[in-house]
Amino acid sequence: MKQINININIEHCQLDELSDNDRELVERALKATENSYAEYSHFYVGAAIRLANGNIMIGANQENAAFPSSLCAERTAIFAAQANYPDQAITTLAIAARNDNGLLNEPVTPCGACRQVILGVEDRYKTPIRILLYGKCGVYCIASAKDLLPLSFVDASMI
Ligand code: THU
Repeated sequence: MKQINININIEHCQLDELSDNDRELVERALKATENSYAEYSHFYVGAAIRLANGNIMIGANQENAAFPSSLCAERTAIFAAQANYPDQAITTLAIAARNDNGLLNEPVTPCGACRQVILGVEDRYKTPIRILLYGKCGVYCIASAKDLLPLSFVDASMI
């Protein structure tokens, strides 16, 4: 029997250690939490995306009385980016969240469905997406969606 070990690398930075571009993106994600409609969960998530051409798109979770019709912040941002700029790869995605007590201490982490969508975009544009997860205790910087979804299912899995 063989063991397979999967390691992922996470850089844990403070906001002031980030590049200007990355810090700006995290700040846009923090601001985007104000656009969340989280009537039911009271969990307000903001996402900000940097495209290859430098443009920034934001997203925020949008909830609905029919709960499964809601959508996460990450996917509102990603789908808007692809609908508006279909020829632009996404290079970086920042996520931030707060609840009714304020910003979260620990970095917010994307749900499984969002991880699958982020990975699908990486696969489509053949460009890794850096992911910045904000928490008051610091920012987790992850080099690629692959790190968040080992043994993932992509187009090549069907060959
Ligand atoms: N949510 C996001 O927007 N992104 C995540 O990464 C995790 C969860 C939203 C979905 C729902 O509106 C609320 O947070 C509580 O799950």
